[in-house]
Amino acid sequence: MRTIELRGSQVVLVDQTLLPNKLKFIRCSDAEGVARAIERMQVRGAPALAAAAAMGIAVATLHSKARTKSQLLSELKRAAERIGRTRPTAVNLFVGIRRALSAAQDAKDVGDMKKAVVKEANLIAEEDVKANKKIGANGARLLKNGDVVLTHCNAGALATVDFGTALGVIRAAWRAGKRIKVIAKETRPLLQGARLTAWELKREGIPVTLVTDSAVGHLMSRGEVDVVVVGADRIAANGDTANKIGTYTIAVLAHEHGIPFYVAAPTSTIDMSIKSGKEIPIEYRSPDEVTTIGGIRLAPKGVRALNPAFDVTPSKLITAIITEKGVFKPSRLKVEL
Ligand code: MRU
Repeated sequence: MRTIELRGSQVVLVDQTLLPNKLKFIRCSDAEGVARAIERMQVRGAPALAAAAAMGIAVATLHSKARTKSQLLSELKRAAERIGRTRPTAVNLFVGIRRALSAAQDAKDVGDMKKAVVKEANLIAEEDVKANKKIGANGARLLKNGDVVLTHCNAGALATVDFGTALGVIRAAWRAGKRIKVIAKETRPLLQGARLTAWELKREGIPVTLVTDSAVGHLMSRGEVDVVVVGADRIAANGDTANKIGTYTIAVLAHEHGIPFYVAAPTSTIDMSIKSGKEIPIEYRSPDEVTTIGGIRLAPKGVRALNPAFDVTPSKLITAIITEKGVFKPSRLKVEL
């Protein structure tokens, strides 16, 4: 199933806020619609954001009435700025924007620009699926028959164009006949683990057990987790990795218990322009996501709440990074890539 697709002059995407209760696709006809879908988390996950950003710029190109290349380029820059303001942490969003804009820039006239941006957006989607399959194959070798794999948030087909990164590794191992079991953390506050990861794994028939975020230390101390595989939103040149809030806690616990901790991500998630995780911008979302759930108040009105959406796991806690180009020690990224 494709999470996101360019169909005609619209972006068609799964509304992830409705899952697991409803599988519904929505259509966005302009960059503003795509930006809003990103802000509302109807589309989310780093690689899916790259596709969404490029497709958002593609629909802006297709609907434009501009007659000259420079007119169209300035419209596209405005669309890119709007999409670029939605979420700061996943570098893939900015890679998608950059690729779409440079395809437009390189084209010779308006007609050519429309074709070039659509082609680039579709290419990003195709490359993503191919990369995920390779990540899956590279990572599946690291999982043993009978392993219990813990994952966090959703780094599955829904977070990408298809197949997934961390869930791609799990999926590939399962399809290769390894009888693994998965522990999915619910992932407060937006419950991507409970709503999305559990849904994806159940659809594929992979045994999954849902736990609260706070259960990880207990389970690890009882020997109930063999390996951790998570996704990434941005990896710095030194291997420090930003991923969903709570990932750092898992890494510290895995280190304490001698459990391998793997990050699965395409090389497009590696941001060589920044040296360490300290430079990764961390998104803070509305406190309402913490104080309420589905419109129901959980905490007293007026109480202060903080809602960092991501944290940074230092590279020293990461056993290896699984990419489409191979499996690397975080400290070797600069040398190997
Ligand atoms: O806030 P989200 O749901 O967009 O966060 C998603 C994650 O943290 C994923 O682990 C990451 O984007 C990798 S997805 C293949």
